[in-house]
Amino acid sequence: MAMASSLQFQYSTLFTIFFCLLPFSPLTLIHGTFSEDLPEAISLKRMQKTTHLHFYFHDIVSGPHPTVVKVANAKDKDPQAGGFGATFIMDDALTEGPDPRSKLVGRAQGLYAMASERFPPALLMAVNYEFTAGKYNGSSVTVLGRNPVMSDVREMPVVGGSGLFRLARGYALAHTVWLDLKTGDATVEYNVYVMHF
Ligand SMILES: *[C@@H]1O[C@H](CO)[C@@H](O)[C@H](O)[C@H]1NC(C)=O
Repeated sequence: MAMASSLQFQYSTLFTIFFCLLPFSPLTLIHGTFSEDLPEAISLKRMQKTTHLHFYFHDIVSGPHPTVVKVANAKDKDPQAGGFGATFIMDDALTEGPDPRSKLVGRAQGLYAMASERFPPALLMAVNYEFTAGKYNGSSVTVLGRNPVMSDVREMPVVGGSGLFRLARGYALAHTVWLDLKTGDATVEYNVYVMHF
């Protein structure tokens, strides 16, 4: 009897939480105001910290399971133009080691476009790096920047993030460790330094 009523209590508590409290939580409803000043900065209660992420990015253009698709063509076929205008969408695996079969830690989902009209080529990168392993599972960082692919190390800004990387800022250093000149398949090492709360 006591057990039954405590179960009943739990169900009714859950019912209250799901159907009565959640719909009116400040997350879901702000009474008709378009914007408001928050009394405290969102995250100043927590200290800003810096996280270093290290992973390998696998850009697979060829074969039966490419992780990149071309969605727009170059302006012209002039090789001097370096494919200017060509635009690609990717969903590339991120792994712990340079071997694509090593532990998957996330995916790079976004686009890159050939944005330099002249040699050497430079990509515009607009990419979300979503993590699926360990502590950062479900968190992501967003990179928006210039990627001069023929340079040894390319620096790109981290402009934001989500989850544990909310309000992130930082930079990513990309270094190509393997490139198949025939197919364009590549493995790129990333060192990312992220300041977040
Ligand atoms: C990551 O989170 C998802 C969704 O919460 C979960 O299904 C998955 O098992 C988690 N993966 C790891 C490696 O923790």
